[in-house]
Amino acid sequence: MDKPKSQHITKFETKVNRVEREALNGHKGVTVWFTGLSASGKSTIAVLVDQMLAARGARSYVLDGDNIRHGLNRDLGFSPADRAENIRRIGEVARLFTQAGIINLTAFISPYREDRDRNRSIQDPGDFVEVFVDSPLEVCERRDPRGLYRLAREGKIPEFTGISAPYEPPLHPDLVLYTDRESEEESAATLVAYLEEHGYLWGGAARGKERAAAGKRASGR
Ligand code: ADX
Repeated sequence: MDKPKSQHITKFETKVNRVEREALNGHKGVTVWFTGLSASGKSTIAVLVDQMLAARGARSYVLDGDNIRHGLNRDLGFSPADRAENIRRIGEVARLFTQAGIINLTAFISPYREDRDRNRSIQDPGDFVEVFVDSPLEVCERRDPRGLYRLAREGKIPEFTGISAPYEPPLHPDLVLYTDRESEEESAATLVAYLEEHGYLWGGAARGKERAAAGKRASGR
């Protein structure tokens, strides 16, 4: 990791540790890092998974490229250096969410392998799940929900991923979702099943929700 600019800063430890936070939540904290072309379905699936997790009482959160570029990263464009910085900052934010015990779902094109690998390397083993949302360029371009591919083809958006800027698919993704062949619901269910099978969800959160509901019923609320 790069050194901080100032030498006069020290780290401190909080008194509530990760294990305690995860016990409170009833599941592990993890970064689910989606990567794929624009319009491949990253955000749609992230939003669905977020809903599915919330329904079982889990604490999750979606970080999305278009949203973050209106706030935290509003100073960044789409040059390779700006994309690297975009992904670096999100990687740090995702690490914080993971440490807080949250299942964070990050939906960024993140076209460069090196940037994604760096984000994996700053987290503990198992804390970073790379999900390749694999949809061919032709399919994404046909979908073109915001007309951006058309503008890119017309040369009106420079450095557009897949058209005039590269996309480097992951070599060893933890999970691949084939969004050209499966429905968004199927992809979302596949991911939730992956999280269950790999021990990220304990079922405790769902029980916690049932307990909360039972508590409400008992008190007549
Ligand atoms: S990334 O490459 O740095 O990871 P990010 O996910 O934050 O990209 O933002 C991608 C979104 O910005 C796209 O879904 C699209 O809506 C919009 N966008 C605007 N210009 C571009 C561009 N030149 N290349 C790709 N996406 C762009």
